[in-house]
Parts: sequence; structure tokens; C-alpha cells
Amino acid sequence: MAMAIPTSITPAEPATHPTDLLALLVREGDKLSALDGALEGLLARCAKEEEFTGKDGQVLSLHTHGKMGPQRIAAVGIGNPKDADRLLDQLRVAASRAVKLAKAVGAKTLSIAGPIDGAAQVQALAEGASLGAYVFDRYKKDKKPLKLGRVELLVRGKPSRDLTDAAELGRQVAAAVCAARDLVNDSPRRVNPRALALAARKSAEEAGLECEVLGRAQIEKLGMRLFLGVSQGSAEEPQLVRISYDPPRGKGGDAVALVGKAITFDSGGLSLKTAQGMEDMKTDMAGAAAVISAMGLVAALKPPFPVRGYFGACENLPSGTAYKPGDVIVGKNGTSVEVLNTDAEGRLVLADVLAWAVEEKPAAVVDLATLTGAIVVALGPWTAGLFSNDDALASELLAAARTAGEPVWRMPLPSEMEELIKSPVADLKNTGGRYGGSINAALFLQHFVGKVPWAHLDIAGPASIDKERGYNARGGTGAGVRLLAEWIRRRASAAAPEPKARERTRKRR
Ligand code: BES
Ligand code: MN
Ligand code: ZN
Repeated sequence: MAMAIPTSITPAEPATHPTDLLALLVREGDKLSALDGALEGLLARCAKEEEFTGKDGQVLSLHTHGKMGPQRIAAVGIGNPKDADRLLDQLRVAASRAVKLAKAVGAKTLSIAGPIDGAAQVQALAEGASLGAYVFDRYKKDKKPLKLGRVELLVRGKPSRDLTDAAELGRQVAAAVCAARDLVNDSPRRVNPRALALAARKSAEEAGLECEVLGRAQIEKLGMRLFLGVSQGSAEEPQLVRISYDPPRGKGGDAVALVGKAITFDSGGLSLKTAQGMEDMKTDMAGAAAVISAMGLVAALKPPFPVRGYFGACENLPSGTAYKPGDVIVGKNGTSVEVLNTDAEGRLVLADVLAWAVEEKPAAVVDLATLTGAIVVALGPWTAGLFSNDDALASELLAAARTAGEPVWRMPLPSEMEELIKSPVADLKNTGGRYGGSINAALFLQHFVGKVPWAHLDIAGPASIDKERGYNARGGTGAGVRLLAEWIRRRASAAAPEPKARERTRKRR
């Protein structure tokens, strides 16, 4: 379960610093001789024998037999990343690899040394360390407690306030990502709509944020009939959640809204999925999990503008009370929808929640949803699709995603495809045929955001993975959390030209 490892900035000489494991980050082609004094050239000799050159993914590990401060040394290759953002992600991967090595040898302390430069890199290393330590073992008899209690990032000279802050932010970001992973990985019998709302309330309370949870009667009052339609086949009451952050000093600028898809289990409803098709459908609330975690980070980042997090949680199940193909339902914003496939439920719930979110006239609304299998066909298993009615917002999100190490690719919203979602009996239908499935889902959502700058991230691929990859464990990845935190951080420093914030931006970029 989620538990971030305390990560400190420690001024020390790697060769003499007492630690259980020293991970030395090595760029491709870097010499290893700097550390080799005490080992009489052993490290360089081993590197040669094992053809260790610092290529990304290479690891060379050896015991020092009391000849140095560290008990063990592991050289970890980080390759030759082609830009600053790629390097950040290599650092996340390298730190997670170091943590896994530390676990394998039972180390209690891990020290990481290498060409570490600047706050962004420190944050990435802290993130990678805690992300790599993650396991979901709630239901396992044999839980292996993590012996590793502390990660130190070794630097020369007195550590600056900037660096210690960055290490702490990285730890917090990783904890938030792991909390989202926990919600996605837990079983749908536990994470039902009420439990998801409760998780939001708990997380908000811990962060000092306001959290409203509305039940069926209030959802009816708000006129969210599309949301209620999806929920009506389930015995569980739907829950509508709004988490609110307001800046400490007065109103600040216009709000930013985050909206997450929160289907706690998607069977497809009467348009029932196959057995294989629903194996993974406990993950259909990953968007909401990301929003809950991102709101916790917003509280730590304290931007000078309000931020709201929204989700409508329910199950999509077939039963005698379920909504049916052929049903026409009028949504909160007055748009009527012909339901042709009850498995296209996410866009229906999001339609009503987005319509609610834009009533506050936010400066931007971003939704995250495991919306379509089609986006996985289009972009593969690890890349999110980005759809937006606003080029500036889209560029901000793409840039933040790169720094956060989350692959995102912009997709089009061609107006000529609108005819695919026109219904003969209603304003819209909820499916658009076999082709361009992720695009017509996004076009559908666009009908509910009015003129507000809006972006939709279809995270059906990256929200969960079927085997371990880099710093992501099998299962939920917490996709979207780092991206949103980085996006809010950037908007905060752009909006707050106080000397301190400006100075930090200049140093980091
Ligand atoms: N939750 C699914 C999308 C999904 C599929 C997420 C695979 C993750 C992995 C969504 O509700 C859904 O069922 N979409 C349908 C839409 C179709 C019926 C128009 C799909 O993608 O098949
Ligand atoms: Mn579905
Ligand atoms: Zn779904």
C-alpha cells in the first residue's frame, strides 16, 4: 500500500559516506574512476568486464567488503537523454531501480549520487524512489515490510532550501500517485461509490480542503438525469463529489476545474461486456482517483487561484431497473441523448458533471477519463489522448505532461465528424460507430462544456498496465496525477509574479 519514503538532501562525499547501498547514476560514457580510489580500480575493471558503459537500463553492482563508506555500490546507467524532460524521466526510472536493488539486498539506507543538478532533477529522483517502492499487498498473507527507511540524495556543499523543498515535493507527489494507485488497485466490492466519495472526503480533510458529497436526491435536484440513468441499474447510491481549494489570500483569479470519471465498476450494463472485457473494469474510476490525489497536491502547491475537483461516482450494472438502449434522457444542460449502447456510460456521467463544473465559469476545465478502448487502439497502451477546444490550454498540458514523464498525444476534434453522433430522435446519440471511437466520445463531451476552455484526457491506456514497467508497478499507475500537479504548479508561478515565485521559476527552467 501507499507509503512514500522520506528523501533527504545530504551533503556528503559518496566514497566515504556510510550507507547500506550507494547508487551511482552514470551517464553513458562517464568515467567511474572518481569513486575508485578506495577500491583500487576494481569498479572500473568490473565495468569493463561486464561491458557497463552507462547505457540506460544497465546496472553494475558490487560489495565493497569494508573498503569504503558504502557497504555496496551499484552503478546505474541513465544513458544520454536527448532533452531535459527525458533526463527527468530517466532519473525517475533510475531512482526506482536503485530502490528495487536496495529492497533486494535488504538495505535500510540508500544513498544516490551522480550528476544531480537543480530542483527539477531532485524532485524527479524523489518521485522515482517512492514510486519504485510501491506494492499493492492489501490482500496478501505475506506482506514484506519495507526495510528501506530513508533515501539520501548526496550533494556537494550545503544544500539549498530549493533542493530540500524539491525533495519534499517529490515525496508528496509520489505519495499522491500511490494513493491513486491504491484506489484503482483495490477491489470494486470495497471501492464502491460511497467508499470513493469517502476517500475523497478523507483526502480533502487531511489537506485542509472543503469536500461536498451529494446523494441521489440532491443529484436529482441538480437535474443530472444522464448520471442517474447510468446509475439506476445498481443497488449502490450514486455520489456526486466536489472538492474545493481556495487560495489563502482572498479570491485570486478564475478557478480551474478538474473532473474525473468515476465508474467504480463498468460491466457495460445491458450492453454487457464479455467476461474478458470486464476483467479490468474496476479501474474505470482512475480519472476520479487522479483528481482526488491532484487536489491534495493543489493544497500543498497553494496556487493563487481556486481549484475545484469533481466526480460523479456510480456503478454501471444490468438489472431490472437498468437504463436501456433506446432510452432518451435529457441532461443537466438541456441536451437530449439517445442511449444506443449502455456501455458508453462514461460520457453520459461526464456530460452532466462537466455541465455542472462550467456553471462556475472556470478559466479552464480538464477532465480525465478511462473513456474508450478506441484510444488504446489508436495510441497504444501507455499514451493518453488529449482533446481540447483551446490551443493554449492544450500546449500547457502537453508541456506539463512532458516534464511529468507522462506520454500524451494530441488528438483532433473534427467538426465534420459531428454527424456521426447526431440522433434521429434526440440531439445526440451516445455512440458514433466503429471508426474514430475516442474522437466521437470527445466530440460528445464538447457539447457539455459551452465556451469554457476545456481539455479531455482519455487515459484508458495508461491508467493501468498489465506488467511492471519502469517506476510503474503492474495495475493502477496513478496516471494524470503528476501531469496535473505540474500543470497547476506552472499556472501558479505564471499567475503569481511575487519575487519568490518568479525567482524559483527562473532557477528551474
Ligand atoms: N470504460 C470503458 C473504456 C475502457 C475500455 C477503458 C478498455 C479501459 C480499457 C468505456 O466505458 C467503454 O466501455 N467504452 C466503450 C464505448 C463503446 C460502447 C462506444 C468501448 O470503448 O468499447
Ligand atoms: Mn463502458
Ligand atoms: Zn467505462
